[in-house]
Amino acid sequence: MKGPDVNEGDRPLAKLALRPPRAPRVVSGLSPGNTPVLILGATSPMARGLATALAQSGQPIYLASRDVEECARLASDLRIRHGVTVFHGHFDAGDLESHLPFLGTVLEALGSLEGVVSLVGTMGEDPATLDPFKAEQIIRSNYLGVVSILGACAQHFESQRRGVIVGVTSVAGDRGRQSNFVYGSAKGALSIWLSGLRNRLHSKDVRVVTFKPGFVDTAMTYGKPGTFCVASPMAAGRAMAWALHGGPDIVYYPRMWRLIMAIIQHIPERVFKGMKL
Ligand SMILES: NC(=O)c1ccc[n+]([C@@H]2O[C@H](COP(=O)([O-])OP(=O)(O)OC[C@H]3O[C@@H](n4cnc5c(N)ncnc54)[C@H](OP(=O)(O)O)[C@@H]3O)[C@@H](O)[C@H]2O)c1
Repeated sequence: MKGPDVNEGDRPLAKLALRPPRAPRVVSGLSPGNTPVLILGATSPMARGLATALAQSGQPIYLASRDVEECARLASDLRIRHGVTVFHGHFDAGDLESHLPFLGTVLEALGSLEGVVSLVGTMGEDPATLDPFKAEQIIRSNYLGVVSILGACAQHFESQRRGVIVGVTSVAGDRGRQSNFVYGSAKGALSIWLSGLRNRLHSKDVRVVTFKPGFVDTAMTYGKPGTFCVASPMAAGRAMAWALHGGPDIVYYPRMWRLIMAIIQHIPERVFKGMKL
């Protein structure tokens, strides 16, 4: 004989059905104006598009990468063109011990921090290397170093109960390919880390966005065979600024990459392993 309609908590389903559905919690993005943003990997051409969009809406910015001279040049260009507050400094993702002091310097300069975008990444000479030392370099720059600094920012945002984190990963992280699987695995790991971080910080009103570009016209893709539908880095940067202010948690850029990757992910492994990708 069939027992009563109960769920695991022994509550009759009829009672649950009467309860109005709970509205999903909304974690809002940054508002334009006096909301300072840290850009890591600021010498990327995509960062230039991002910084320009933020400067146009009057947001104070801190630009950081290993190339301090280039950051200084970019900062002065933004100040002259847009009359905004722009700081710059040295940041090396591989030097984990420097990350907390670096964040302290950023906070001191900007006065407060409301958003961070990490574009830090490298393919290395061979993104599918089997040399463990070369692989370590790729994993350090694309994953470990990014997790370290974004983790420090996450703690800061968690304690102030607001903030936005945008992590730039890649569609390369959605499925391993023979041409770039070391780079792809580091990006894939970062996407998973960001997903967990989003889950942790959702109840603390901190927004976490995973930004996955397809091919973008930068030094990273220059002269690489097999690229197609290559997007403009300035437009990609503007899309990152948009992601800071609102929109979905996971952004494929351009949008068609969501469909392309859905198709690629659904190719059966027995077929995929024989493909030259
Ligand atoms: N281009 C594409 O088609 C594409 C596609 C998908 C995802 N992406 C991702 O988008 C981001 C930007 O790439 P991009 O194409 O613009 O390449 P890029 O011009 O080479 O920019 C990479 C940025 O990462 C910084 N960086 C690399 N290693 C670093 C380290 N150890 N410490 C600190 N900064 C470091 C570089 O700064 P310094 O060298 O000045 O330190 C530079 O600002 C990367 O994360 C990349 O993986 C790019």
